Amino acid sequence: MFDAKTYETRRELLKKDVKEGLILLPGNGESPMNYAANPYPFRQDSTFLYFFGIDKPDFAGLIDVDEDKDYLFGTDFTIDDIIWMGPQPSVKELAAGVGVSHTADQAKLKELLEKAVSAGRKIQYLPPYRAETQVKIAEWLGISNEKAKKDVSLELIKAVVKQREIKSDEEVAEIEKALNISFDMYAAIMKTAKPGMYEREITGKIEGIVGSYGGLISFPVILSIHGETLHNHYHGNRMKKNDLLVADSGAESPLHYASDITRSFPVGGRFTPEQKDVYQVVLEAQKTAVEAIKPGKPNREIHLQTAAVIARGMKDMKLMKGDAETAVKEGAHALFFPHGLGHMLGLDVHDMESLGENHVGYDDTVERSAQFGLAYLRLAKELKPGFVLTVEPGIYFIPALIDQWKGENKFAEFIDYNRVEQFKNFGGIRIEDDVLVTAAGHRVLGKPIPKEVEEIETIMG
Ligand code: GLY
Repeated sequence: MFDAKTYETRRELLKKDVKEGLILLPGNGESPMNYAANPYPFRQDSTFLYFFGIDKPDFAGLIDVDEDKDYLFGTDFTIDDIIWMGPQPSVKELAAGVGVSHTADQAKLKELLEKAVSAGRKIQYLPPYRAETQVKIAEWLGISNEKAKKDVSLELIKAVVKQREIKSDEEVAEIEKALNISFDMYAAIMKTAKPGMYEREITGKIEGIVGSYGGLISFPVILSIHGETLHNHYHGNRMKKNDLLVADSGAESPLHYASDITRSFPVGGRFTPEQKDVYQVVLEAQKTAVEAIKPGKPNREIHLQTAAVIARGMKDMKLMKGDAETAVKEGAHALFFPHGLGHMLGLDVHDMESLGENHVGYDDTVERSAQFGLAYLRLAKELKPGFVLTVEPGIYFIPALIDQWKGENKFAEFIDYNRVEQFKNFGGIRIEDDVLVTAAGHRVLGKPIPKEVEEIETIMG
């Protein structure tokens, strides 16, 4: 974990923003796969981790803003536990490591909260995304599950987003540790992916590399020769020469900060001329987006600028026609680029998404669009120094979407459906890097992972 001072300062800042009452931050418990003692890999709640740092199940943090006191609730292990698990630190020892001096058993939390409820004190908590947490909150506060889900604190959500969205140098260093693992992954898989292999062999390689660093993947690996399915988790296809493989994956650093990288490359090591043309459009779009990143710039504008590069590229390839800027305004490019440019990155791969995507990516200055494609943009608001975001444009040929739009003759003034038909089996291409907004502009994080056509062909060759 970071130094205790980091967690103390974070809690102090939170107390300044949330001016009264009690802030309840439950940690996660184990999540059983098939019976209680056989759990999924443990993943701590990211906001608990941010303010209390302890990476172990069954803790809860409570911040008393009125009394200026921080509490940690947990249960010390018994000798029976220690026989199975080996020596374990006490709750007091763990709490001292994150600058908390008030500790008590979990059972005491309910008592303390009951008293606070009777005294009419304000108790604030964040949206629970695990059913177990929702049930616990309902029990602790003596309310129904439905009420526990509904009565989340908007004030607390806003205060947490305000803090977590700005990454400190030590947090950026953690993200770069995760990116070093990503570098190794892509170096390995570009050399490994050969015709005749199954996608799962490449997925296994990625998971093995992450495991060898002792951490977790930051989200289930997306890897497919059907990259036109945006989040394809099926890995059972046998790869053939000239298939385009999209690999979108990430690792967690030792302190659980995420990386998120996508590369697309041809099985067999050489792009066909058609693949190269589409790839160059995506690459130009991605580089344009990265270059546009600077404080004060709304990410929605960068998304639309990127969409315009894609529309112009599609027009050069005679897949689109008419005025590219008008096509983007009306949303015609979304046949090929139907998702948002990127999202915040931090302790979560979609950072803070459990707090509500609109609270993280939108604010009073920008409202989510209802237009197909633009509606999926996760981060639209103005960029600030300290934001870390993904930049991940793509071009996809999605047969079902093509058929639907063609059937409706949708945007026929902008799309040449006869030409698009020739690309129906193309698949997809996405290129993604992780970028820090700096005072002067931006910095692409991590060691550069090859993305130029020549670099990829050289490595794969
Ligand atoms: N890279 C995975 C995602 O953005 O959802």
